Amino acid sequence: MKKTIIANWKMQLGFRDSQMLIKELKQKIKKTNSEIIVCPDYLSLSSAALVFKGTHLNLGAQDCAIKASGALTGEVSPASLRELGVTYVIIGHWERRTVLGEDSELINTKIKSALTAKLIPILCIGENLAEREAGLAKKVLLNQIKNALKDVKIKTTTGLIIAYEPIWAIGTGESIIPFEADTIHSFIKAEAAKVMGKKVRVVYGGSVNSVNANEFLKQKNVDGLLVGGASLNAKEFSLIVNN
Ligand code: 13P
Repeated sequence: MKKTIIANWKMQLGFRDSQMLIKELKQKIKKTNSEIIVCPDYLSLSSAALVFKGTHLNLGAQDCAIKASGALTGEVSPASLRELGVTYVIIGHWERRTVLGEDSELINTKIKSALTAKLIPILCIGENLAEREAGLAKKVLLNQIKNALKDVKIKTTTGLIIAYEPIWAIGTGESIIPFEADTIHSFIKAEAAKVMGKKVRVVYGGSVNSVNANEFLKQKNVDGLLVGGASLNAKEFSLIVNN
């Protein structure tokens, strides 16, 4: 199966730098066997939609609102994102869970709202270091899966992606051992399938770069990568994509 490589730019770039990176990616990433999804911030989505049109670069948002329209100051409608040409949306990234206080109930609502708008959610889950060291990683992941995916229905296995991002590996330069990721991904797939009745893709995120990407992509249950820091440089990201 094609691997899925996702770039999450977070809030790392200014507007002008985002515009430059969008153009550079179009030039640098021509041919690839992977599915590529680029997630700039909201402000750059419409220009990215224009530049990426007709290429194989897909567009993702980093979040969406809990409903399609209404009085929700500051929020962005998943339906509007879809209209713009966005096909994917990251939901429940740990930075939103911890810094912005998003809980499982909210994440569950956002997933349903994204699906209603025909966006494909990329649900992020992961354990922190204390949980890992206490041997609680699987328990934590299971809770996150059950809560985030409660009553979530998808028509096909491509209708949702889960990103396994161990929190201790995000932005630290310390990634999980690829073989261990494979075992955990297998667990996540099985548990998510029990909830949704479908075996979805599970991608890995956390200190991925052009040096370690290939080892992850070789793993049977690693269906792709969610890349933060290393996706901010077109050359580095194209090396990951062309691995
Ligand atoms: P880094 O690749 O910078 O560790 O970030 C991972 C991440 O959080 C992607 O969503």
